[in-house]
Amino acid sequence: MIQLEQVGKVYRTEKIETLALADVNISIPQGAFVSIMGPSGCGKSTLLNMMGLLDQPSDGEVRISGQNMSHMGDGDLARFRNQHIGFVFQSFHLIPDLKVIDNVEIPLLYRSLTHKERTRLAHAALDRVGLSSRVDHFPSQLSGGQQQRVAIARAIVGEPSYILADEPTGNLDSQMGDQVMGILEGLNEERQATIVMVTHDEEMAKRSHRIIRLFDGRQVDA
Ligand SMILES: Nc1ncnc2c1ncn2[C@@H]1O[C@H](COP(=O)(O)OP(=O)(O)OP(=O)(O)O)[C@@H](O)[C@H]1O
Ligand SMILES: [Mg+2]
Repeated sequence: MIQLEQVGKVYRTEKIETLALADVNISIPQGAFVSIMGPSGCGKSTLLNMMGLLDQPSDGEVRISGQNMSHMGDGDLARFRNQHIGFVFQSFHLIPDLKVIDNVEIPLLYRSLTHKERTRLAHAALDRVGLSSRVDHFPSQLSGGQQQRVAIARAIVGEPSYILADEPTGNLDSQMGDQVMGILEGLNEERQATIVMVTHDEEMAKRSHRIIRLFDGRQVDA
């Protein structure tokens, strides 16, 4: 369960204050598949970052699995994120100097697994996204869609209960987008993973259980 209570976010730089989110109240039950939609700049990535514990809200509270995250220290937050949350970034964030297989293994480095076991799990995750034949490539040797799928493999390799994906189909053609959507649906159905996906695509959003719409940092759905 992900709960946001009166969450607000203001970005402050020396000269400007940007209100990115205001008074957001959302409760996402375990096993749900939710889409976040809205125009560019309305706060979708900001909202997902709050849910993924990548950034702190300026106001309000984020609770995950009943735990209030604002009372957690950085070390505990990092540990919680590593064990429970898989995050697919809008811009992939793959490490250019690491091969595909090593990129996917990263979340497992913080667990007590042997190298062999890590490699086995990373292969399985890459197989799931249809990239078994690219394990020894570097990110720069892959297409945008393939990089997107590596990012998804990395997010799912540790079998997180929460998968947060920022436009996971945004860089893919419709067939590949459909395949990625199928992977997310599979994880949702088979493992009861809770999925929150930002998308601009109404067709993809319709396949989820619920659509949260944002406009200028505010929720416009009920
Ligand atoms: N680090 C930051 N510093 C200052 N302002 C920021 C920062 N990150 C985002 N913003 C501002 O917050 C607002 C929301 O940004 P956000 O990235 O959440 O939008 P978005 O809905 O994900 O847009 P897109 O569809 O283009 O990805 C925007 O006005 C943006 O300029
Ligand atoms: Mg965004």
